[in-house]
Amino acid sequence: MVKDLVWDRVLSVQVEEIDEDHRRLVGLFNILKHAVEEGDTADYIAAVLEELISCTVWHFRHEERLMLKFGFQGLPEHRQEHQELIESVRTLQQKFLQHDKPVSGEDIDFLEHWLTGHILTADMELGAYLCMVM
Ligand SMILES: [Fe+2]
Repeated sequence: MVKDLVWDRVLSVQVEEIDEDHRRLVGLFNILKHAVEEGDTADYIAAVLEELISCTVWHFRHEERLMLKFGFQGLPEHRQEHQELIESVRTLQQKFLQHDKPVSGEDIDFLEHWLTGHILTADMELGAYLCMVM
């Protein structure tokens, strides 16, 4: 079994309410990874994937609300990146649901990068801004 994704200080954006959401997303990602590795049923994997996506959509709204409240100038680009991330994971979900294709180890690698890549770039920038103004 490949190691779990661990939320640690490297992934902290220094804003507790955002870190809290990210920890939850990392937790869901690990549940999905275990389900795939352990060969859980397609229905169960679909349910976990949907939960991860729904939680991510909710979390993105949360970040966008903070950007609006605190006048973050990078909001349009950041929101655009959120939209693209949701589209890419929905594409993966459609492939899984419509073509009866199991979620693969490659898909899990993709999702790990999908999750951490955004946190380590766009969210770090947002966190640095929010730390100054909150
Ligand atoms: Fe974000």
